[in-house]
Amino acid sequence: MQEGGPIKVGVLGATGTVGQRFITLLSAHPWFILHALGASPRSANKPYTTAVNWKQTTRIPHVARDMVVKECKPEHFKECAVVFSGLDADVAGEIEGAFRAADLAVFSNAKNFRRDPNVPLIVPLVNPSHYAMISQQQVQHSPPLKKGFIVTNANCSTTGCVIPLAALEKSFGPIESLLVTTMQAISGAGYPGISSMDILDNVVPYISGEEEKMEWEMLKILGGVATSDEGVKSFDMHARNPLRVSASCNRVPVIDGHTECVSIRFAKRPPPSPQQVREALANFTTDAQTLGCPSAPRHTISVHEEKDRPQPRLDRYYQDGAGVSVGRIRQCQVLDIKFVVLANNVSIGAATSSIINAELAILKGIITS
Ligand SMILES: NC(=O)c1ccc[n+]([C@@H]2O[C@H](COP(=O)([O-])OP(=O)(O)OC[C@H]3O[C@@H](n4cnc5c(N)ncnc54)[C@H](OP(=O)(O)O)[C@@H]3O)[C@@H](O)[C@H]2O)c1
Repeated sequence: MQEGGPIKVGVLGATGTVGQRFITLLSAHPWFILHALGASPRSANKPYTTAVNWKQTTRIPHVARDMVVKECKPEHFKECAVVFSGLDADVAGEIEGAFRAADLAVFSNAKNFRRDPNVPLIVPLVNPSHYAMISQQQVQHSPPLKKGFIVTNANCSTTGCVIPLAALEKSFGPIESLLVTTMQAISGAGYPGISSMDILDNVVPYISGEEEKMEWEMLKILGGVATSDEGVKSFDMHARNPLRVSASCNRVPVIDGHTECVSIRFAKRPPPSPQQVREALANFTTDAQTLGCPSAPRHTISVHEEKDRPQPRLDRYYQDGAGVSVGRIRQCQVLDIKFVVLANNVSIGAATSSIINAELAILKGIITS
């Protein structure tokens, strides 16, 4: 696609759970070429194969094996047109901020900048229109930036939920109430994550900060971008049609794939039937698909008719983890409709979303190599 040859990209947090998924996906990417890898000072100056505790089912890609891991300093990444971040939230704020200040384009998985009023929180299959905020982020930065910016993607459990919700809002108008109960995979907590003594034969009904994140992130993602009379842009947080969200988050003994039980009430009466919902989800197409993002799922939502699907072990690799699976669509006796959604937390919930976000930024002309 690129006239000037492959686009050089870097990965921060390259040794982590999300970082390893980035390395796997980027090593086979048609536009991008891995140029620099960063991790903690513990890993820096070691070949990637020595620094990483590789936990993927495929081998470490050749392109990454002998690359020497760097400290996460902008000078090591200055030739990268795109920097992907799978950094631990304890350090992501400072490091990603420094990379942006060095005029680099950063696509982050960490929570640190998600609430920033100038930073878009983009689930690429839902709200790429929020790229409209980038120019304001660059102008309001001190000093103003020419090329640098930060785009974040959402928490992995938020991502799985907002994709079917966006499809339903597109077909049937605003949703006004939402109850969601998650069953989240162990890999969502990074490596080594939760101790086996705590998770085997068990369900842990608490994930620190997760419910709050889901409840407000959905408003930023499903809302629009408003422009004041003075031309100042802001995220409207779904304020034109207020949306009430209640989330309950649980950790379950599944390696990859977050399953979520969702009940919704639409603003418009009468609400759609379960069959209309099925059709709207199955027919949902995204800008990422139509614009030609190579990593976008060819079909976004797999709608199951079987009574016992989706299941993480069977459905988490739908579209190589880039699509989501929905099943058990039925009437809700309290709200309107209920269903189950399954999303791969490490793929569309993390690395794949960042990569599609970068592809969208290139296709929209926001990044030029
Ligand atoms: N796992 C998921 O499903 C998921 C989904 C969505 C978002 N996220 C978010 O993505 C981020 C990464 O998650 P993860 O699951 O991949 O975590 P992880 O497995 O714990 O990996 C963390 C990465 O951060 C690096 N790091 C730690 N301290 C550092 C420092 N002082 N300086 C530079 N790098 C440092 C680590 O490098 P070393 O190996 O050298 O320590 C490692 O590469 C987190 O912010 C998480 O909340 C995760």
